Amino acid sequence: MEAMKNLLERRSIRKYKDTQVPDDLLDQVLEAGLYAPTGMNRQNVIMVAVRDKETRDQLMRMNAAVMGSQNDPFYGAPCVIVVLGDAENYPVVENGSLVLGNLMNAAHAAGLGSCWIHRAWQMFETEEGKALLRQWGLKDTLVGVGNCILGYPDEEPAARPRLDGRIVKIG
Ligand SMILES: Cc1cc2nc3c(=O)[nH]c(=O)nc-3n(C[C@H](O)[C@H](O)[C@H](O)COP(=O)(O)O)c2cc1C
Repeated sequence: MEAMKNLLERRSIRKYKDTQVPDDLLDQVLEAGLYAPTGMNRQNVIMVAVRDKETRDQLMRMNAAVMGSQNDPFYGAPCVIVVLGDAENYPVVENGSLVLGNLMNAAHAAGLGSCWIHRAWQMFETEEGKALLRQWGLKDTLVGVGNCILGYPDEEPAARPRLDGRIVKIG
């Protein structure tokens, strides 16, 4: 029941307190990511957890640049987990998405807020993105699946109503 409540009550958070995510909670969230299922158990998803402000701001600018925006697409969240996959080792989007789901649900269970921030694919296609991957000791052919922003929530949004007609039961 606890797990069910967590799944139903997780929301995307777009307002954060300044407080950084502590090591123990970040590690819990990352561990949940490690346990996401992967096709043929390839475990081919990499998570890069960024709390260093300079790097976090660099990622923010790269993400905003994809939209031609000057605003912070990370909504002030102090931590970002970049989820990357190996496109040569299929299925990258499916595996990465399940990791992102685990990260967001684990964050909520740990009392943290989170939100999937898209455009990671475009971020890591650029020369700047590839240089960052190399700096992190990773292959620069990895592709971005999504960014999971993390922090202490400073809002409590309600779930929007579920659309009808999305469940079909046969028998
Ligand atoms: C694939 C995907 C991409 C998303 N990209 C963004 C994004 O770039 N920025 C953002 O604010 N929210 C983003 N979201 C969050 C959705 O807007 C959010 O999940 C949706 O509005 C439902 O709200 P909930 O997560 O609170 O249930 C993304 C979610 C998914 C699954």
